[in-house]
Formats: sequence, structure tokens, C-alpha cells
Amino acid sequence: MNKEEAAELSGPLSRLGQAPGRKVRFGLASRLLALVVLFVMLTEIAVYIPSIANFRNNWLQDRLSAAFTAALVFEATPSAVPAELNSAILDSVGARSIAIKNHDARLVLAAAGSPQPPDVHYDTRNPTLFEQIAAAFDTLMARQARSIAVVGHAPLGGEYLEILIDEAPMRDAMWSYSLNVLLLSLTISCIVAFLAVVAINIMVLRPVRHLTTSITQFGRNPEASEWVIEPSGRSHEIGVAEDALAVMQRDLLRELNRKKRLAALGLAVAKINHDMRNMLSSAQLLSDRLVETSDPIGQRIAPKLVATLDRAISFCQSTLVYGRAVERQPKRQKLSLHSLVDDVAETLSPFTPGVVIDNAVAHDFFIYADQEQLFRVLLNLMRNAVDALTNAGPQPGTQPLVRLRARKDGTNSVIEVCDNGPGVPPPARANLFQPFSGSSRPGSTGLGLSIVADIVHGHGGTIKLVTGEGERGLGGATFRITLPRRRAKTQVLDLPEEAA
Ligand SMILES: Nc1ncnc2c1ncn2[C@@H]1O[C@H](COP(=O)(O)OP(=O)(O)OP(=O)(O)O)[C@@H](O)[C@H]1O
Ligand SMILES: [Mg+2]
Repeated sequence: MNKEEAAELSGPLSRLGQAPGRKVRFGLASRLLALVVLFVMLTEIAVYIPSIANFRNNWLQDRLSAAFTAALVFEATPSAVPAELNSAILDSVGARSIAIKNHDARLVLAAAGSPQPPDVHYDTRNPTLFEQIAAAFDTLMARQARSIAVVGHAPLGGEYLEILIDEAPMRDAMWSYSLNVLLLSLTISCIVAFLAVVAINIMVLRPVRHLTTSITQFGRNPEASEWVIEPSGRSHEIGVAEDALAVMQRDLLRELNRKKRLAALGLAVAKINHDMRNMLSSAQLLSDRLVETSDPIGQRIAPKLVATLDRAISFCQSTLVYGRAVERQPKRQKLSLHSLVDDVAETLSPFTPGVVIDNAVAHDFFIYADQEQLFRVLLNLMRNAVDALTNAGPQPGTQPLVRLRARKDGTNSVIEVCDNGPGVPPPARANLFQPFSGSSRPGSTGLGLSIVADIVHGHGGTIKLVTGEGERGLGGATFRITLPRRRAKTQVLDLPEEAA
């Protein structure tokens, strides 16, 4: 096979091999890593927002609880509390002042310095989540030092307890909490991303790379079997893809090799034909002179010899003209099948010692076919039968026999070639009419039946092996050809009625 033919056969495949030229900028692993970090961070943010509000709430509640206890102490003490104790209690609460509202009166229980109006008010009794979150971010974003008046539940039936605190310590605590959450989130993201990438690498990326390598390398050289993928047997989607790819690659390989052989054979046939035609032409010239001999045997054989050589030359010529594997269009004409079978039997006679060829076709059975091509069909089928009989012998207790039958079936002519040999071996039956597929004999090419099928199909007919269908065969193989008796779809041939 030359370079152009090879390129034509594997063209679409070899384009597959061009894909790896593209550089992979961000591999799947790095994309996955970035995505996992992003998703974990988003999750952490979703958790952080309510948790920072909760943190602030707890911080204020702690101060209020301390103030609550202090209020009980102040309420229980009738005399004024000493100034040192007063400031010690305020320090432990973390407030500038503590006040309580009972009925309509607001009473300042303790205060450090002169009272000042607060910058912000915050009521811890039943705030909504949204209010808590807004207040938390307000605290985090506050630029200047502010004071907050925090209101909570009061002891001893009071209306509310109010403490005035500085916002700065709480803001610092909230920022340090946020930083911790950020660090923790980053650590979790990295650990999760690493584990996810390792898992994905083992479960997905490695098998996918294996697939990609096999596809691209096989695409570069589809005639070599070394890049056919070995399926790993995994039961997930990639395992199924590997199985399917292996089947596809094996089929392609087989098909390419088959086409390669056919192309090589075509070339060989063309070369053989070319030289054979020249040799046959010389033989034809010599045999022409045999006709003039006075020897009776020579006179009887010479016309047949000349006809056979004519046929061989025109066949070689037509193969050269019409190309390797394609049969030329049949030149149909009205033929006596009986005479054609006699001709084939005569040509085969040197190969059939001991085999009886029974021409059971009626003398007045005509068909409408290409004489040259039908001759080759019958020659191939009868030769196969004779080969099977000489190689494996006939059915026990019978003489080797090949029988030709024909009958009319509606608008078709049915021709049967039967023998009493061993029958077609089961391995040869699958793809029997495909080139190189059916041969089970050493030394044979396995082309005969594919040529027969091509010619029969070219005539618009069909061929099948009918042995084993309970037909009236001879116990061996029976090939049945069905040919239309019409010239065209609407035109019925003017053939005489023939005997079945
Ligand atoms: N009448 C028959 N009896 C038994 N086996 C047969 C018969 N006809 C065909 N076969 C089987 O079918 C196979 C294919 O036949 P085919 O004519 O295509 O190729 P071949 O005879 O092996 O080679 P060649 O190309 O030389 O004809 C044969 O090898 C043979 O095993
Ligand atoms: Mg054959």
C-alpha cells in the first residue's frame, strides 16, 4: 500500500493525533483546587455572618449578666456604696454606668464620672437576626471610639436594666474572632481541597489521562495495536467508556487491516492480470492453430480451449479496466442455464475425478444474466463443492455428487448448487460472503463466495446457504441463488415457460 492509500484509509483517525498539540493551561486538578477553596470559603462566610452577630450578642449578654448581679447588690444595699467598691463593680462589669428603670423612675445605680449621652442604643431583648447582623457589622466598621447604651432584662420586676459601655474592647474581640475564623476557614479549605484533588486524581483524572493517551496515540498510528486500550474493568462510567473504546479500536484496527490487505491484493491482482493477459494472448494464438489440425481429439478440444482462453483474456482485461474490487455492470442476455452448467462442468472436469456432476437443469430453462459473470458464479460454487468432497469425502455410504437444479418462483429464477459433502463448517458460516472471512481451508484465499455474492447482487439477486433448513439437499451444502427474471421493474422478459 503506498503512502496516499494509507493516508486515505486512516485520514480521519490521524487527525485525532493533532489534538495533543494544544497546551493545557489550567489542568482539571488546579481548576478543581480553586473551586473547592472557593466553595469552602463561601460556606464559611455563610456560617460566619450569623456567628459574628451571635458573638457580639453573647459579649453584651455577659456584661448585662454581671450588671444584673451588681444591680441586685445595689438594690439590697440601703446606704450608699463606697466609691472604691462602686468603681470596682463597674470595672468587673466593664461598664461606665449601670441604671435600672422601675415603673416610671429611672435610677442610676452606679456611674463613673459625669453622665454622658451614649453614641448608640442597643436593646438585647428580642432583636431579630437581621438587627443583630446589622449591629455586628456596624460595630466592626465603626471608625471612632463610641459608647453604647445596652438594654437588657431587669431584676426584681424592673422594666429594664441599662449599662453604658465602651464599644472598642468589643470591636477588638470581634476582629480577633473574625481573624480566627478566617484562618480556620483557610486551613479547612486547603485540607478539603487537597483531599478532593487526591481523590479526583485517583478516581477520575488518571483514568481519563489513560483514555486520552490511548485515543491520541491510536489516532496517530491507527494501524498499530499497541495503543489499543486495556480496559481496567472498573464498573463506573470511565470503565464503561474504556470498554467501548477498546471495542471501537479493535474493530477499527481489524477493518483497517482488512482494507490494507484488500488494497494490496487489488494491486497484486492488477499486476498479475496485466502479465497473465499477455501470456494468455500468446496461448490463444497457438491454440488457434490447433483448429486446423486433422487430429479428431484436437479438433474436438480446440474450440473449447479457444473459448476458455477468450474468456480468460476478457476477464483479465475487464478487471484491469474496472479496477480492483468492483465488478463491472452485468451485460444481461438470455442464456440456457443447462448449457452454461455443462460448460462449467467441462472446465472443472480436470479437477473432479470421481465426483459426479449432475446437471439437473431442464434444457429449456433460460435465465437473463451476464454469461461471463454467471459462469464465474457457478464455477466458484461448484469448485467449492468439489473441494469439500475431495478433502472431506461424501456422506457415508454415498458417491461424491454435485447437483445443479433450477426452478421458477414467481418473477424469480431459483438456482441451487447442492453437494453431499460435509457441509459448510460452523466457523465459516459467520460472514461467509465477506472477503477473507469465510475461509477455513489452508491454502485458500476466502474470496470465492464474496465474488459470487457481488455478482449475484449486481444482477439484483440474492444468495444464501440453505443447508439445515429442511430443504431437499443432498446432506451437504446447498447454495441457493435467486435471480429476477425481469429486464427492468416493469418489463417482463420474453422467456419460454420452463420445467421446474
Ligand atoms: N460446498 C461447500 N461445502 C463445504 N464448505 C464449503 C462449501 N462452500 C464453501 N465452503 C466453506 O466456505 C469457505 C469460504 O469459501 P470461499 O469460496 O469464499 O473461499 P475458499 O474456497 O476458501 O477460497 P477461494 O477464494 O480460493 O475460493 C471455504 O473455505 C469452505 O470452508
Ligand atoms: Mg472457493
